[in-house]
Amino acid sequence: MHDLDRDTSEWDQLWGFGRENALRSGVEANDHLKKFWLTAVPSQNVAPNVLDIACGNGVLARYIDQSEFIQKSGGEYTGVDSAQIKPPDSSSFKFLKPTFCSNRNIEDVQFNSDQFNVVISQFGFEYCEKETTIALIARWLRADGHVVFVAHSETSAITLESKQILEQLRILEESALIPLLYRLFERLEAMYLSNEAQDERAELLRQRVNATCSNLEEIAGYMHESRFLIATMGLLLSLLAPERAHIPPSVRKDNLFKLSTNLQHQQTRLKQQFECALSEEDIAFMKTMWSEYKFADICFETLVRDDEELGVVLRARKLA
Ligand SMILES: C[S@@+](CC[C@H](N)C(=O)[O-])C[C@H]1O[C@@H](n2cnc3c(N)ncnc32)[C@H](O)[C@@H]1O
Repeated sequence: MHDLDRDTSEWDQLWGFGRENALRSGVEANDHLKKFWLTAVPSQNVAPNVLDIACGNGVLARYIDQSEFIQKSGGEYTGVDSAQIKPPDSSSFKFLKPTFCSNRNIEDVQFNSDQFNVVISQFGFEYCEKETTIALIARWLRADGHVVFVAHSETSAITLESKQILEQLRILEESALIPLLYRLFERLEAMYLSNEAQDERAELLRQRVNATCSNLEEIAGYMHESRFLIATMGLLLSLLAPERAHIPPSVRKDNLFKLSTNLQHQQTRLKQQFECALSEEDIAFMKTMWSEYKFADICFETLVRDDEELGVVLRARKLA
């Protein structure tokens, strides 16, 4: 039995916003990943039946719908994700017949033996219980079927950026800026409701918050990669901007709460991503596991765009 009741709210939130994939849109790595997937899957003699592990909002379904190997003969696709996903409607696919299984852990899902001839995953397999998932793939994949995964690696630019942002979130947490702002809005709300013209304590608190914000901005300036912290603080400070003075403090309190929840979800996602990134030892261990489950042509290679490492590609073929 697996972690069926796992809280997936951090991913539910991301997919619920309609995000196409886990990386921010506009990130150049996305174009490179798309190019990779257009040719990544070896052609088959039969129409492909593809399983996508941890599919999110179906980015790989969209990519492979445009790939040559699907355009030749069409194909079926099943995407599984433990979160509440919001994939595109099946009518938006030209060649692929997609099925999406939302709120399902790959370790708990049931498929027939030999059901698929291709198993793919982009930044997904490494989040799952690896040995269980490999054993299941070995059962679900037909002889001569292919596995192609792109996974987070410990040394990739994505993992290093996650580490930096996690550090900045820690600084933000330690600064207690958000609770301080929240208290300020509570105070202002009390003033607003009681219609007091002056409140010295509220004014004092407002000054303290402004001072804290200036300190944080100064710290952010010294940080190696501070865009995230500056942007987050900009957003927090905008709640205090004079143009927003007409907005009732209770609404600003609500907005602050939403912002803080979003940051917590982002922190959880980044922690998961950071923790599941594959190390050299993980890769060595996995090579052994795949061969124990009768896979051949097992190959791990670094996926690089210009000089930037995007992750690690795993390929394997199930023996007849
Ligand atoms: C980084 S996202 C990748 C999503 C998608 N492949 C993409 O590239 O946009 C990781 C996804 O793994 C899913 N996930 C984590 N553990 C899982 C499991 N055991 N079974 C199925 N999905 C899982 C999460 O819900 C999340 O949507």
